[in-house]
Amino acid sequence: MGDVEKSKKKDKKKGPARLFEPMTLRGVTVRNRIWLPPMDTYSAFAQDGRPTPFHYQHYVSRAMGGFGMIIMESTAVAPEGRISPCDLGLWSDDQMDAWRWIVADAKAAGATMAVQLNHAGRKASTGCFAVGFDGESVPEEFGGWRTVCPSANAYGSLRAPRALGVDEIHTIVAQFRDAAWRAYDIGFDAVQIHAAHGYLLSQFLDPLINEREDEYGGSFENRIRILVDVVEAVRTVIPDDMPVLVRISATDWAAGGWDLDQSVDLAKVLKEHGVDLVDVSTGGLIPGVTIPVKPGYQVPFSEQIRSRADIPVTAVGLITKPKQAEKVLKAGQADVIEIGRAALRDPYWPLRAANKLGISIEEAPYPAQYVRGAFR
Ligand SMILES: Cc1cc2nc3c(=O)[nH]c(=O)nc-3n(C[C@H](O)[C@H](O)[C@H](O)COP(=O)(O)O)c2cc1C
Repeated sequence: MGDVEKSKKKDKKKGPARLFEPMTLRGVTVRNRIWLPPMDTYSAFAQDGRPTPFHYQHYVSRAMGGFGMIIMESTAVAPEGRISPCDLGLWSDDQMDAWRWIVADAKAAGATMAVQLNHAGRKASTGCFAVGFDGESVPEEFGGWRTVCPSANAYGSLRAPRALGVDEIHTIVAQFRDAAWRAYDIGFDAVQIHAAHGYLLSQFLDPLINEREDEYGGSFENRIRILVDVVEAVRTVIPDDMPVLVRISATDWAAGGWDLDQSVDLAKVLKEHGVDLVDVSTGGLIPGVTIPVKPGYQVPFSEQIRSRADIPVTAVGLITKPKQAEKVLKAGQADVIEIGRAALRDPYWPLRAANKLGISIEEAPYPAQYVRGAFR
């Protein structure tokens, strides 16, 4: 019996793997349910927001490794919205050409390509390996800048931000819209709006951060207003068949702050406004909280949002093993699994998972060039 034959037999014995089932969102069918979550590589070394050959290699190799959707890292909609000076950006038409080869070649390798649009708000202008000042604000003389927030309160020891005016909020909404149009023109299949991890949009959501007394603060409806405005604005510039994903922190892990119930209510509103999937993460909003980190610790949040808001969700966070991932899908706790850090050490995670789960080599997402070296 040949290797392909053997592998097919294994497949039958174990039943079909949910991880390798395609998934359709609007007009886009993703080849499987193993996605690469956005992970900032802080590698726009010229500090101009443009991707480099590093990004090409990083993303295209993971496309060749079989990931279904690749969500490119936090990408700033304005220069002052960068987490670090070396973040990617889509704030200008001049940046667009530097993206095209990456998106085209990752798609040619079978991946569905999305980009995470972000404004870091009070967590902008922080250091990274390339500029130093890790975990701190970058001083202005080293390329840092003054940050903004719904209210003038700082994140931990980072530099104090200034509160945004209403006109500035409207400008930021337009910046998300324009960046989404650029993403569409570049050839991205989907856009993700970053409303998690304590960056600007989530700063508005959280009552422990947002102390505004105007239409963007106070009640739940007011705190979610900027995010809903962004979703609506983005929808006006991309085709109807292009999915919009929103990443949220389902809880800030702090008493009296943003929590699961508000996340469920938010997911219902987002669905009404044309959001196709909620990428469920947690934390990053309030410094110093205790997070019960362990394998799959965020899965219960995904499960709750999926069942109570009736919207497709991802599960992410210390999901590292194929069988563990498969179990989450089979139990109906999520529609998609995101493999983050494990994919930094293994760009071929999906190919390895296919072998572990008994998927035949023919059905696994191998590039034709790599079939002779398939996991057996
Ligand atoms: C190096 C690194 C960079 C990250 N950058 C981002 C980012 O740009 N946007 C985002 O939403 N999450 C970011 N994350 C969080 C990941 O997307 C993911 O949610 C987290 O790593 C948990 O998943 P894991 O346990 O599979 O790694 C980052 C994580 C890492 C390790």
